[in-house]
Amino acid sequence: MSASLHALILGAAAGGGLPQWNCGCDNCRAARDAGSGLSPQTQSSLAVSVDRRAWAVLNASPDIRQQVHGNPQLQPRSLRDTPIVSVLLTNGDIDHVAGLLSLREKQAFTVFATRAIMETLAANPIFNALDPEMVGFAAIELEQPVEIAPGLMGRLLAVPGKVPLYMEQGEVQTDIEGEQTVGVEITAGGKTVFYIPGCARMTAALAARLRGADLLFFDGTVFSDDEMITTGTGSKTGRRMGHMAMSGEEGSLNAFRDLGVRRKVFVHINNTNPVWRSGSPERGAVEEAGWTVGADGMEISA
Ligand code: MLT
Ligand code: MN
Ligand code: ZN
Repeated sequence: MSASLHALILGAAAGGGLPQWNCGCDNCRAARDAGSGLSPQTQSSLAVSVDRRAWAVLNASPDIRQQVHGNPQLQPRSLRDTPIVSVLLTNGDIDHVAGLLSLREKQAFTVFATRAIMETLAANPIFNALDPEMVGFAAIELEQPVEIAPGLMGRLLAVPGKVPLYMEQGEVQTDIEGEQTVGVEITAGGKTVFYIPGCARMTAALAARLRGADLLFFDGTVFSDDEMITTGTGSKTGRRMGHMAMSGEEGSLNAFRDLGVRRKVFVHINNTNPVWRSGSPERGAVEEAGWTVGADGMEISA
């Protein structure tokens, strides 16, 4: 009998969320207007489960408190309790680790991450707020299978990326393939789901790995590489931030066109991205290419 694998998008937006506190771009203004049809979206996180009772949370976003509040599946069933059995980190960025600080109230769960990410946490004494008597910190090797929730195996895979923004120094290599930025392959009952919220570029090895997957959640930060520049919100390209764009020769729409992934969902979508707007040509282009634009609370089963 094949078990189902359930994935729940806790936060579909990238760092900053939608709207971002200090942003007045078109999307952020629309997200503050209840009549606009564009709903606010929280920061980058996905929950996965086999039985919908025990959940592994992939990335602890600064919005995790609100995400638990908004998703009854993650709420306590008794006096002090959580259905969250583990938190797995795909990099050390603030949008993926700051939520750990909101999980400090003497609750048992396991944190999984590469040794490099664990060292970054260990170098920040504020994370000692997580009581080591209760919270297990498990450094895992790339490709080492670990049970992240009952019946659910996770494996970290290196994807091109960079060190966290707050650790950048001097010349920054944006496409290191190592322990700084990883994706996760999740398997249960013969189904395979990939979660890759940050990826600087597609490689031949990654394409081969993802070919034919049942379900994929992928880096949807920007539609165009120069989006931050053209919207006047920043000076960096997507590539410089370690994120491949959706459009363009080397973009994700092109890269996945022939990979036969059954269901493709964009997550970690920056507030500047025009795909947030239903009816925009960019939204049309990604849907035409078979992608779903992720949204908070969306549950998809494989
Ligand atoms: C990113 O995905 O590029 C980072 O989350 C940026 C940040 O730390 O704000
Ligand atoms: Mn991010
Ligand atoms: Zn904005």
